[in-house]
Order: sequence, then C-alpha cells, then structure tokens
Amino acid sequence: MKLPHRHARRLQLAAAVILLAILAPVAARPLPGSTPIPIPATLQSGQGRYELHVNPTVAARSAPAARVARHFADLVQRTHGLTLQTIDSEHGAGVTYTLDPTATSDDEGYVLDIDDDGARILARDERGLFYGAVTLWQLLDAEGRLPAVRIEDAPRFGWRGLMLDSARHMQSVEEIKHLLDAMALHKLNVFHWHLTDDQGWRIEIKRYPRLTEVGGCRIPAGDAGTDPATGQTRPYCGHYTQAQIREIVAYAAERHITVVPEIDMPGHAQAAVAAYPELGTVAGETAVSNEWGVHTYLFNVEEDTFGFLENVLTEVLALFPSAYIHVGGDEAVKDQWQASEQVQARMRALGVADETQLQAYFISRMERFLSAHGRRLIGWDEILEGGLPADATVMSWRGIEGGIAAARQGHDVVMSPSSDLYLDYLQTDSPNELPGRPATIPLRQVYAFEPVPEALDASQARHVLGVQANVWTEHMRDYARVQHAVFPRIAALAETGWSPADRRDYDDFLVRLPAQLRRYRALGIAYAQTPFEVRMTVETADRGTGTIEVALSNPLGYDGIGYTTDGEDPTAESPAYEAPLVRPLPAEVRARVFVDGEALADASVQRFDAASLLRRSDEALKMCTGALMLRLEDDGPADGDRARFNVDIFNPCWQWDGADLDGIAAVQVRAGRIPYYFQLHHDESNRKFRTPKSAHGELEIHAGCDGELLASAPLPEHPDADGFIVLDAALPEQAGTRDLCITFTGDTRPTMWVLDEVRLIPR
Ligand code: ACM
Repeated sequence: MKLPHRHARRLQLAAAVILLAILAPVAARPLPGSTPIPIPATLQSGQGRYELHVNPTVAARSAPAARVARHFADLVQRTHGLTLQTIDSEHGAGVTYTLDPTATSDDEGYVLDIDDDGARILARDERGLFYGAVTLWQLLDAEGRLPAVRIEDAPRFGWRGLMLDSARHMQSVEEIKHLLDAMALHKLNVFHWHLTDDQGWRIEIKRYPRLTEVGGCRIPAGDAGTDPATGQTRPYCGHYTQAQIREIVAYAAERHITVVPEIDMPGHAQAAVAAYPELGTVAGETAVSNEWGVHTYLFNVEEDTFGFLENVLTEVLALFPSAYIHVGGDEAVKDQWQASEQVQARMRALGVADETQLQAYFISRMERFLSAHGRRLIGWDEILEGGLPADATVMSWRGIEGGIAAARQGHDVVMSPSSDLYLDYLQTDSPNELPGRPATIPLRQVYAFEPVPEALDASQARHVLGVQANVWTEHMRDYARVQHAVFPRIAALAETGWSPADRRDYDDFLVRLPAQLRRYRALGIAYAQTPFEVRMTVETADRGTGTIEVALSNPLGYDGIGYTTDGEDPTAESPAYEAPLVRPLPAEVRARVFVDGEALADASVQRFDAASLLRRSDEALKMCTGALMLRLEDDGPADGDRARFNVDIFNPCWQWDGADLDGIAAVQVRAGRIPYYFQLHHDESNRKFRTPKSAHGELEIHAGCDGELLASAPLPEHPDADGFIVLDAALPEQAGTRDLCITFTGDTRPTMWVLDEVRLIPR
C-alpha cells in the first residue's frame, strides 16, 4: 500500500531520529551533572567538588562492590568518555564502594558522600551500592567533576515495577535488555513480563511444544495478514526459548531487577486453547486471536487442565527465581463456563455455587500449588472476587478500589491503575502520538499518582508494596513505540516509587527532566518527542486579508520556545516566543523548546496557507460522542510506517466545530479502511451502525451530530489501490459557521471506514 505523503515524511523524520540516537550517543553536548531522578530522600549540598577526571580511580574491595564498580565504570565510559581505573587501596581513590552492615537500615539504601577527597558510597547490600552508583553517575558532570554533597537515600516502596506485554507484540532479547538497563537507571526493581494472552503464547514450555508452535503464531487481521508479493498468509510468530528467558532473568538480576512472569488464567487463554483444544470450554478448534479486546476463551476446570497448568508452572518456576508468580485472573468473562454442560457438572460436583466462586476455586488451587513450591501468587484485582487465599497479593488495575479492598482484607497490594499508570494510553494530544488509547495520561498525571490511598489506615497502608506502570502492546508493533510510551513517563513513575512522598514536587521534577533527557540521548533511548514539541494553534484566521495569528505552546508548559519563519530550524539564538505570531499567508513556522541553550526535541514545523485553513486531519477533530476512542493504524503495509487514525469504534463520527462554510461548495473527505478487529463482548451492542441507503453505505455530513443532513456521497465497495478514497459531498449554498459531524453509514464489518482528512472546497 502506498504511503500518503505526510506519513512518508513522518517516516523519514522517525528514521532520522532513530539514526541520530544510534549513531551519536552524547552527540552535541556531553552530560552535565544534576540533581538525580528519582530525587534522593535527603540531599545536603556541600562546598566545592571533586575532580574525578584528575584522579579517575575506584576502590572496591569486596566482590559485590567490585561488580558495581565495573558496571558503572562501563557506564561512565559510554556516557562521559571517562575511563575509571580500579585500584587496591581505598586511600587516595576517587570513588570508594564499601559494604558496611551498619551503613543503612534498608537493603536498597545507601549513603553517598562527596567532598574534596573523593566520593564514598556505603551500603549494607550490593543493591544499595548499585543505587548509590546510579546517583553518582547522575551527579557526574560532562567534565568529570562531582559536586560536594551528602546523600542518605532509600526507596519508599519495595515494588517499583514495569510490566511489558510481549504477547500482543514481541520484543527482541536485546530490546528487553535495553529496557532493563533503563529500568535499573531509574532504580526500578520489578520487571513484570506478560508472556501469554489470547493473541500469543510466548514462553517455551518443553512439555507442551504446541503452546509455542501453534499458540505462538497468529495471522494478523486485514491486509497485514497477507504477503502482497505471494498472496500467501503472513503469520506473526515468535516466542522466547528457555535459554533466552534464562539470559534475560540473569541480565535483570545483575541489575537488581526481579522478573515476575505472568501466565494468564483462566481467561486470556485463547492461544493456549488454540494449541490444545482439550483445555478449553467449547467444542471444536479455535485460532490464535488476531483481534483486540476482551475475549471469551477460558480454560476448563477438569483435573487434566489443572495438571497441565501445574506442569506449565513447574517449568516457569525453574526459569524464574521470583518469589511472586503472576497468574493473571483478569477479564475472565464467564459466558463459556455458563454455557458449558461439562463446566456446570464440575461445579456441581465441587459444590461451587456460581462461576465467580469457580474462578476463586481456580485461583486458590494455583495458590496452593505455588505455596507448596515456596512461591507467592499475585494476580489482577479480579482475583478478589469470590474470595482469595490470605497469602495472595493483588495488583490493582481497575482503579485503586481493588487495592483498597484487598489491603483492608489484609492482602498485599501493588497499585497499577489503568487510569494513571497504563502507558499504552497516549501522553499528549499531539497528532504525532503513536497508536494507542487516547484517554490521555500525561506526565503530570503519572507523577501525581499516589500509591497509598487516604482511605487506608496505617496498618492497612503497610500492605501497599508499591507501584507499577504497564505497557500493553496491542498498538506497539515495534520497540520504538514501546520506548515512546515508556520514556519519559517512567521517570515520573520512578520518583513515585522511590522518593519520599514529601520530596515529590512536579515543578522541580520538570526542572530536573532536561538532564534526564540528555541521559536518554546518551544511552540511545528514543524517548517520546511529543511532550517536548511545540504546538501551534491558529488563534484567528482572516481569509479576507490572508492573515493568521498563531499561538505556540508546549504540552509540559516549558517556555523558552524559539521560533523561525524563514524555513531554517530554530537554534538557541532564534527569536524567543512571547506572544502569538501574526503572519501573512503563506507562512511556515518552525519552533522548538530550549532549556539552557539545548533543544529538548526536534523542531515542530507547520505550514499555513489558504488551503490549510480549510483542512483538518482526523487528529484535529473531536469525536462526536467519544465513547471508546482509539488511535489505530492502517493494516498495510505489512512493514514500515502506516497511516494512523483517531476513531471512536463505538460511534465512528468526527466533529469539526465552527467550520466556516461561507463560499464553500463541497466537503471533501479522504478516508482509509482498517480492520474492525475488536472483541467487545457485552459492549458490542453499544456499537452504532447507521442504516445505509445504498449498497455500500454513504459518507454523511450532518450539521451537529443529531442535526440536519447537509451532504452525502455513496461509498465504493473497496478503497483505491493506495488504501484510501477521496469523496466529494456537495453542499447546498451555506453561510456562516456550522458544527460538522462526519460519519459513514452501513455495517462494513470486518472492516471499517476511518476519516483521514477533511477539506472544505470553495466555490
Ligand atoms: C488488564 O489490563 N486487563 C489487567
């Protein structure tokens, strides 16, 4: 499928950014030292500094200290170009790492002292030395100097987690290591690895090879599922071998990160049931799902199935030393159990009252198995329903209510609410956001999340083990997208998880963030540009005189916007933005945010002319009702960039408020078509399909969403070869402004039309 021009340009830009990140670590400016993220518990600045570059020596006499010293010598070499030498004597060493059982009371805590004589890190455990070294690295400036400071630091929470979904889309072992490196430098210590789901089983289980042979492959929906060259199906396949998993677990452990595997049950089981239909609840075979949403496939509750799950867990336990094993438990809609004679008979035999109790029975059996093997069960908050074994831990994702209820019942809790800590939700309203869920969770909101609800008293609050952010990857086909979702929001999560509540201060965090971005660039981390972009808003446009007034702003509120109107990218010396720019058309504005003379992101570029004022992309339009908005991508081409669309899948209808229809002859709509690949289950009835008047339905333009039909045009059966259509709907003579609602009639499942761009065509 051919790429529309604007997407092709985006692709080039993205490629350029990635290339820069890979080819030019530390590019223009080396790292200056600065106050760390997460902010330490206590930090007292002293007088003077230590010139580590003059005496780049390190003493680390115990084996753990030597490991930490080596790790950070490598890091400092990479990011600062400074070579540190290990020496035997602590006397005269530039940096000293010392294990000292009396240094701190917390195994992850450390004391860092820097004065004219050098830097000393003390901790009772290797973990503390490691975190002290992270702080030291952040303080080290570009010239190799360390500020005099005394830091006494320890984490607020013991669970500082990040979940990665490798079931919907996989990441390579190298990419996961890159993420683990970054987690460690944010002092995060739990990598929750979501390895099985309806769309893929990604962990090799030697006893059950079909789990990965069959369950590890799906045929993607729509065009992506076919090789255009051969017409053959193009499956999306993959799994992690046990050897790869061991490698990742070991790599994480070297960075003091525990890998908590998740094997989801009794729901999210479609891939497993596709591999072994006898595990399922309905007769016949099924395929690994290529759709998103809540699926109906559940494991059955036969003894053989419990035997299967215990055998799977036995192999899981051998791979993952984690005390906690995650068994999912989420979104197990009970229809299949209700409909199954076999399950109902088992329920009666077991004396279980209903399907909710049956799930509780299911989870309690798994809990017994894990306890018997010295492990602890953790699951999503649905495991509370129907009762839960006392030792089970609850991960609260449907808000914090499950967490509150669990803590009140005496269960340990990890807070991971979708409302604040789901990183597949977009982070700004920029048109450059990648596919995801557009309920926006900006950096400020991640930062503001408080893991200990006020509703808990002190004894209940002690059950809150910590926080976790989750990266679901339905819409993240590659690791660049994962990085976009994770960075910089992970920095906010890190501070919530590590720093004392009274040390958290969002404004101060924003002051420290540019230094963190520099670290990201030095480490080849492709952080999201969107929060650091300059947004351009046309405040007023006079089509008569051909003048516009454009306001510039930044989503995070950074000022220091430099701009140009001469086609050159802004530099730190470019004019500083102070008030909306008034410009004759055509005009091209380029702008970027500068902090201390350094740009935080690529330049934003926008061209304004008579036609652009009459044009809106889907991203610039509201959803008519906004029931379930997603940011989705086209299903082709199979590789590379694809067009992206904002669409409300319950009610695909786009709204242009205040469209000026003076002298307008027609509304021209460019639309693409994407798979309707959602399992909405009980919500499916909320999906609106408007009655068509012709064979393939119509494009309709209404004045207001329930208002008069202004214009329409029949839809073709198929899009053009490039995957798009362009339709003109003639308007009757109009004057003034109207709120236009643009929609498509007919039920086109298994595909759906989606608006890409709308233009007003003058008479
Ligand atoms: C979840 O988001 N289903 C845990």
